[in-house]
Amino acid sequence: MPDYQAILEEIHAKVVAERPEGRVASYIPGLAKIHPDLFGMHLLTAEGEEFSVGDSDETFSIQSITKVLLISMVLSTQGRKIWSRVGVEPSGDPFNSLVQLEHERGIPRNPFINSGALVVCDFLMSLYDDPLSEFLNFVRRISGVPDISFDRFVAKSERKVAYRNLAMLNFMKDFGNIHNDIIAVIDFYCAVCSIRMSCGELARTFALFMNHGKLGNGEQILSVRRAKRINALMLTCGFYDESGEFAFRVGLPGKSGVGGGIAAVNPGKYSVAVWSPPLNEKGNSAAGCLALELLTDITGTSIF
Ligand code: DON
Repeated sequence: MPDYQAILEEIHAKVVAERPEGRVASYIPGLAKIHPDLFGMHLLTAEGEEFSVGDSDETFSIQSITKVLLISMVLSTQGRKIWSRVGVEPSGDPFNSLVQLEHERGIPRNPFINSGALVVCDFLMSLYDDPLSEFLNFVRRISGVPDISFDRFVAKSERKVAYRNLAMLNFMKDFGNIHNDIIAVIDFYCAVCSIRMSCGELARTFALFMNHGKLGNGEQILSVRRAKRINALMLTCGFYDESGEFAFRVGLPGKSGVGGGIAAVNPGKYSVAVWSPPLNEKGNSAAGCLALELLTDITGTSIF
């Protein structure tokens, strides 16, 4: 097995020296004040060994990474019904783009762009009286951390300026693809995006996708086939209009969030989470992408 601890330390030193250019997300005021120099990385192997560097125990807002857990919850309970309401193709557009929705009659391209995740939220809202508690319980079960919760301050701050996401909800409601009250859907969406986790917690949560849908205790949460599909979606859509570049440079299924986090997996080998708040122009953590590129280059462990 590679000496992952030494490799994470080498990556940390290289990322600090290189300081790839990026800017902390400011369109959600609650995220804007985070210190740009924070950096953490945590890797968990399939054998259960864990390695970390930097601020890997600090919690941060997972933002769009939550979208992987939302679709996982849907697939673990309701199966394929969701696929008539959201597609599985990369969008080639930014995460908050509205342009394809009109041509494609309110059916988002995939569950990881904002419009797609809003439909998935709406789907969950139709299933449960208290979808937020149900979702938090699902995330607590997957992560093994009983006190995982959302950040009321960040959720409220996003909710106040959620004009674009509300525009998407209105538009999709007009096409009949949103079934619940749009205000209730946006409240649920902002809450689930604000969930806080550390790199360690995130790597342990994404172990589900490294382990072909199985938890560490052997419980099969997702079928092997559905876990495969989620990994395929992460590879093709996890980084929006930078998904091709991420596959090219890193070569792992993964998902980013505007809080600066990225979770990625090498199925059967490891689950890894990295966090650095400054984002590149595509909205993905600049240092996070570099760190993962170094990881797969140094260890020769991309999926390709
Ligand atoms: O809806 C939004 O804009 C945010 N709550 C999530 C966006 C996000 O994390 C995009 N990821 N890189």
